[in-house]
Amino acid sequence: MPAIVLIGAQWGDEGKGKVTDLLGERVGYVVRYQGGNNAGHTVITPDGRKFALHLLPSGVLTPGCVPIIGNGVVVDPKVLLAELDGLADRGVDTSRLLISADAHLIMPHHRALDRVVERYLGSARIGTTGRGIGPAYGDKVARMGIRMQDLLDPGILAKKLELALREKNQVLVKVYNRKAIDAEAVVGEYLTYAERLRPYIADTRLTLARALDRGENVLLEGAQATLLDVDHGTYPFVTSSNPTAGGACVGSGIPPTKISSVIGIIKAYTTRVGAGPFPTELFDDHGAHLSRVGGEFGTTTGRARRCGWFDAVVGRYAVRVNGITDLVVTKLDVLSGLDRLPICIGYEIDGERVDEMPMDQTAFHHAVPIYEECDGWDEDITKCRQFTELPAAAQHYLRRIEDLCGTRVSVVGVGPGREENVVLHDLG
Ligand code: IMP
Repeated sequence: MPAIVLIGAQWGDEGKGKVTDLLGERVGYVVRYQGGNNAGHTVITPDGRKFALHLLPSGVLTPGCVPIIGNGVVVDPKVLLAELDGLADRGVDTSRLLISADAHLIMPHHRALDRVVERYLGSARIGTTGRGIGPAYGDKVARMGIRMQDLLDPGILAKKLELALREKNQVLVKVYNRKAIDAEAVVGEYLTYAERLRPYIADTRLTLARALDRGENVLLEGAQATLLDVDHGTYPFVTSSNPTAGGACVGSGIPPTKISSVIGIIKAYTTRVGAGPFPTELFDDHGAHLSRVGGEFGTTTGRARRCGWFDAVVGRYAVRVNGITDLVVTKLDVLSGLDRLPICIGYEIDGERVDEMPMDQTAFHHAVPIYEECDGWDEDITKCRQFTELPAAAQHYLRRIEDLCGTRVSVVGVGPGREENVVLHDLG
């Protein structure tokens, strides 16, 4: 298994930690390739300790593994250092971390603009995490971003920031009636971060190429998910990067020919945080069940996630745009006790039946799910470790997911614990 991509197949929060656990020590390098501290995942280590990570790849918790923050990530250095300090306080060795010299920095004006623009949008807001992600990526594409490597050259850092603030301060003051940001103070602050981050900054592209040449295993860990992809997601209700499999190559510098498999994580139902279309969303007791039993509150913002039935149109789409080779279905146990389990197999849009993700966003906003009803089950499935131990109705539900999405289900999560899985096919 040279390079494996791990991506969310829905709108995020599918539980990617499960796969990282399953691959465990077989992986020598874990790379974050996009997003920033808008992500959040909870990892439980073999000794039962729970960690909430936002920016660092989960590999930071695996002894011997090299965690890498790739060029495609946007890094808020203050948040990164706080995360590193938090881990150090709990005895985690973070010295192996490498950060791409090409990763872009989230600056104070990015955070300020993210929040003020959302407020300005009112009911049309995206519901961002407010961490400055969108503005940082905007500046990257506009070629006025500041990169990790700029921290190593105080003169360049000051010059680039002054140039950026010349425009951003005008916007903050004149458009949004906010205070201007003082360039000198920011440079001073960021140079203190530079001192601490210097040992981690590296040519991670080269590190990864050499690791792959030696036959080491690399896990490319996506944040957010397919439907939040800026190109392939429900634009504009998306994040500003490319979580899809293609983004893994761009955001790490690993060529597509080195990718051996793409693992898609898909929840046994659907959730979404923030605004945007969500055809199978539930507003009834079933939705309340999913939210309560599934503990559907964000790791990063604590916001309640919107909940709905499994949407196979979304699953099929994720398989198609990512080339998913294996699906990992998470949280199947959350469905135990529900009498019936509708699966969305297509949509009715303005009187017409549609089986694939519609071409335009307006149509997706009008999509009314067409459901196939599956039987529920009452049994506690958390002790099941073999597919045949699952209730017949649960087996049928999984087989329908497999058939409708068009790729095999390789692992099923039946509880939050590391061992609480049914493995049908080895992910390695
Ligand atoms: P941003 O990434 O903060 O710009 O937010 C853009 C959209 O992506 C919003 O709808 C967020 O709720 C959503 N989003 C960002 N990160 C995550 C995540 O890790 N899980 C789920 N949704 C996310």
